[in-house]
Amino acid sequence: MLNTVAEYLYDQTSLYSLCWILLLSYGLYLLAKLFRFVTRYSYIRWRLPGPKLDHPIFGMKVARIDRKSLAKLENTIKDYPRFGRMIYGPIFSIMVTGPEVAQQIFNQVESKNKTFVYMMTPWLGNGLVFSEGTIWKRNRKLLTPTFYYQSLINFVKIMNKSSDRMIEVINRDSNGKDPIEFVPLIHNMTLEVILNCICSKGSDLQLNIDTNSREMTYVEGLEKIRQGMEERFSSFFSIFDIIFYRKNVGKEFARGAKMTKQYIVSLIQEREENPREESNKSDYDMLDLLTRSRDEEGNGLTQKEIIDELNTFVFAGHDTTGAASSFVFYHLAKYPELQEKCREEVLSVMGGRDEIEWKDIAKFTYLTCFIKETMRLYPPVMFISKMLNKPFTIDGHKIPANVSLDISIGLIHRNASHWPDPDKFDPSRFKDENIEKHHPYAFIPFSAGSRNCIGQNFAMSEIKIITARLLKKFQVSLQDGYDIDITVKVVLSPSDNLPLLFSPL
Ligand code: HEM
Repeated sequence: MLNTVAEYLYDQTSLYSLCWILLLSYGLYLLAKLFRFVTRYSYIRWRLPGPKLDHPIFGMKVARIDRKSLAKLENTIKDYPRFGRMIYGPIFSIMVTGPEVAQQIFNQVESKNKTFVYMMTPWLGNGLVFSEGTIWKRNRKLLTPTFYYQSLINFVKIMNKSSDRMIEVINRDSNGKDPIEFVPLIHNMTLEVILNCICSKGSDLQLNIDTNSREMTYVEGLEKIRQGMEERFSSFFSIFDIIFYRKNVGKEFARGAKMTKQYIVSLIQEREENPREESNKSDYDMLDLLTRSRDEEGNGLTQKEIIDELNTFVFAGHDTTGAASSFVFYHLAKYPELQEKCREEVLSVMGGRDEIEWKDIAKFTYLTCFIKETMRLYPPVMFISKMLNKPFTIDGHKIPANVSLDISIGLIHRNASHWPDPDKFDPSRFKDENIEKHHPYAFIPFSAGSRNCIGQNFAMSEIKIITARLLKKFQVSLQDGYDIDITVKVVLSPSDNLPLLFSPL
């Protein structure tokens, strides 16, 4: 009996000791983490250069991006033309504002900052934008041929067809006296283009909208996703899954992610049932190219990978080009003489023809300068974020691992040390004779290095085609007294629907 009691007490004591040891170890682990955080925080806050903080505890004020806050940031950063530390309460990062520092990072730091990626994975999965390491390397190689010359030639035809439909919509809806809202118009057009490039079935989202069509279910799903993302970026508590998915907007986001996935799955299944002949290789769309691509071992992408990549292409490929085109049309309307210069060039390249061919695109030299200058001032992707997985030295300052480096494309593009009179709209900065004067990383709307934008030729072709096609048909102008403001809805966009006057020529 005594033996059993002693054994029992012994067992209890060792259980208690074990619990204490575990608790103590966990406490020590937390203490070590806190110590690491405090040393990193103090070093970054007090030893690195950076703008004055608005508050001793909360650090810098988080402001919604608009023209006023952008101008304020531009002004603050003037004293930090290479980089500056940013503090938001317990969150800190290094904001990169100089092209030389950006170049050093692009060449040496591969890993992305994945802190907020969890918000997008239910929708984009592990597509090219988020994947890393060997998966990213393999898939980037498999996806690159999607944007080769032969494919782009086919995509140019699709872009022309969608421009035709957009011209028809403008002719139908515009009386030449009242403005029409450009943003929804261009977003429908760029979405139609990318859906037709994925699956060349002739989707028509602009003229004959069939509300019951699969495409419209996709559009509806995408809208739910967009609203969900806006909520997550604008409300602090919505960054936590546990709160976001309890809200209606969160539930709708999840539904939207499912709807868009279902659409892509139905396209894949349909293509599997009716595969395209090998002899029609020159007409392959993105779906053909992705389902048929093979690596060195002869393995293709899995169905999940194809879904994730196509979802990524649709979003990355239409929201960005829609936003960039909106800013291009705003500038055309704001500067009528420059608009005329662009039109003269379009007419001299096109003559009496309407349809733009691949070979025409390279001849739009002034229009290219105009588009680039627009993207310098309003780059759709304002910043990209890398996470240090080992210490990194900038200008003699050793930045510890696990610190985020935010390359601010928006501020690099307005850095007065590289762009004299940076807020002035001046397309001649991009003329051949001036291009040599710029640092190669002073203009990076499509990022740079190995993780640069895979769709940049596609995007530039699309923006040039839609601009040239519309300039041939319409004079674009602003309503008296109108001025644009900006906001970030995942990508930088006009804050309103951009009312523009289209007068037939
Ligand atoms: C004006 C239009 C566009 C702009 C400004 C733009 C900008 C960018 C930027 C800055 C990145 C780097 C993002 C990062 O590192 O976090 C990127 C990556 C990417 N973009 Fe674009 N993009 C545009 C159009 C497109 C189009 C049309 C497509 C496809 C159809 C596309 C597909 C992608 C993909 C898949 C990536 C990830 C590449 C990788 O990590 O290997 N983009 N884009």
